[in-house]
Amino acid sequence: MTTPPSPTVAPANGRLGVLTVGLGAVASTLIAGVELVKRGVSLPVGSLTQMGNIRLGKRTDKRSPLIKDFVPIATLDDIVFGAWDPFPDDAYVAATRAGVLEGGKHIEAISEALRDVRPMPAAFDREYVKRIDADNTMHTINKRDMLNAIRVDINRFREDKQVDRVVMLWAASTEIFIEPGPAHMSLDAFEAAIDANDHTIAPSMLYAYAAILEGVPFANGAPNLTVDIPALRDLAVEKKVPISGKDFKTGQTLIKTVIGPMLRARMLGLSGWYSTNILGNRDGEVLDDPDNFKTKEESKLGVLEHILDPVTFPDLYGDVYHKVRINYYPPRGDNKEGWDNIDLFGWLGYPMQLKIDFLCRDSILAAPLALDLVLFSDLAQRAGLSGIQEWLSFYYKAPMVAPGLHAEHDLFVQQSKLENTLRWMMGEDQITHLGREYYDEI
Ligand SMILES: NC(=O)c1ccc[n+]([C@@H]2O[C@H](COP(=O)([O-])OP(=O)(O)OC[C@H]3O[C@@H](n4cnc5c(N)ncnc54)[C@H](O)[C@@H]3O)[C@@H](O)[C@H]2O)c1
Repeated sequence: MTTPPSPTVAPANGRLGVLTVGLGAVASTLIAGVELVKRGVSLPVGSLTQMGNIRLGKRTDKRSPLIKDFVPIATLDDIVFGAWDPFPDDAYVAATRAGVLEGGKHIEAISEALRDVRPMPAAFDREYVKRIDADNTMHTINKRDMLNAIRVDINRFREDKQVDRVVMLWAASTEIFIEPGPAHMSLDAFEAAIDANDHTIAPSMLYAYAAILEGVPFANGAPNLTVDIPALRDLAVEKKVPISGKDFKTGQTLIKTVIGPMLRARMLGLSGWYSTNILGNRDGEVLDDPDNFKTKEESKLGVLEHILDPVTFPDLYGDVYHKVRINYYPPRGDNKEGWDNIDLFGWLGYPMQLKIDFLCRDSILAAPLALDLVLFSDLAQRAGLSGIQEWLSFYYKAPMVAPGLHAEHDLFVQQSKLENTLRWMMGEDQITHLGREYYDEI
């Protein structure tokens, strides 16, 4: 297989507008974090674009620049935020409410910048998120009207904030489970379904459609179907717009996609994997509704099946009991606890157990992913890439891939894919780790 020619990447001139759908815990932690990093108050820990480096050439070349020095990504100083949310809270109130960041240290210091981000009325329909009851909405659930209003908002934001490029990120609540159906299969069917107010057209699809029509890259941080439907995937290619999703891979699934490949790499068997979570933020409250949890459950359950490949290895993985639970437990707020009990077996079938208890912080893990996705989606557009950006699978629980392909879930395969894409974009050699050159030359 030959590598296609590297693209020409346009420079990141001018300002980058970032529109978040949802101004809740993740979005407010992202916005506050960018402001704090810009001022030198905190470090962008967890962000590959800000802290990571990339090896180029041979190991002996000792060339490992920072990613942000290697590829022309936008600087944090050039980012301007905007948002939609059915709650009228500005980013200052949203960050305070979310309870993720320490007020005195991390909110008050940047209060002016946070006050500046006031949510536009949302394209919101309670049918898709029953647990949210708020009034800063477009006051219509007519789908055509919502679509048109989102497009107007994008263009007004462009003009008001004088931004040169825009990226849209879904950081809003997880919508109810929707299976791909006839309305999603072609643009004509999708258009007709909008006019018919078909219930399989969720608000998130209208945001994504509006983004693509306006030439705005779209990244989906939640497990909703949203942009992962033929009609929008095809349109994104036609309009030369990068799209990616679904569902930030932050806590338990991040761990699953590291431990799972380890078991498979060593041919260790698995009989059961029980995952449970307690969390008490608004996301947890939304996911307490069975219809919304179903969307998240599908996203979380998929990974093991693909990593372990029970069809090829029935003796090792043919009878795995995999269970995922999320329990809403208000006292914990955003500080989620995720337990994993893993029943594995080794040589001659002898059983063993592995227990993991991750006392994590949901939005602290998600914010750097959101930042990277925004910056890389913008980079992809300037590199002329369009449609599904599979190289961003690294960030997602349920990565979008071309029809007929299975997704790569192994975190380190995803990392290699991401790094090789950056090398390819910049005309550098791919790194295959074959390494014969170090020995053949001797
Ligand atoms: N570690 C993580 O935090 C993590 C990991 C993976 C996925 N996610 C997903 O990211 C999303 C955001 O998480 P969060 O903790 O910030 O949740 P949150 O509840 O704090 O914020 C979501 C916001 O979206 C708003 N919203 C709902 N529907 C909307 C619509 N149609 N338009 C505009 N705004 C809308 C809500 O009012 C709310 O303020 C959730 O879907 C969550 O499942 C989070």
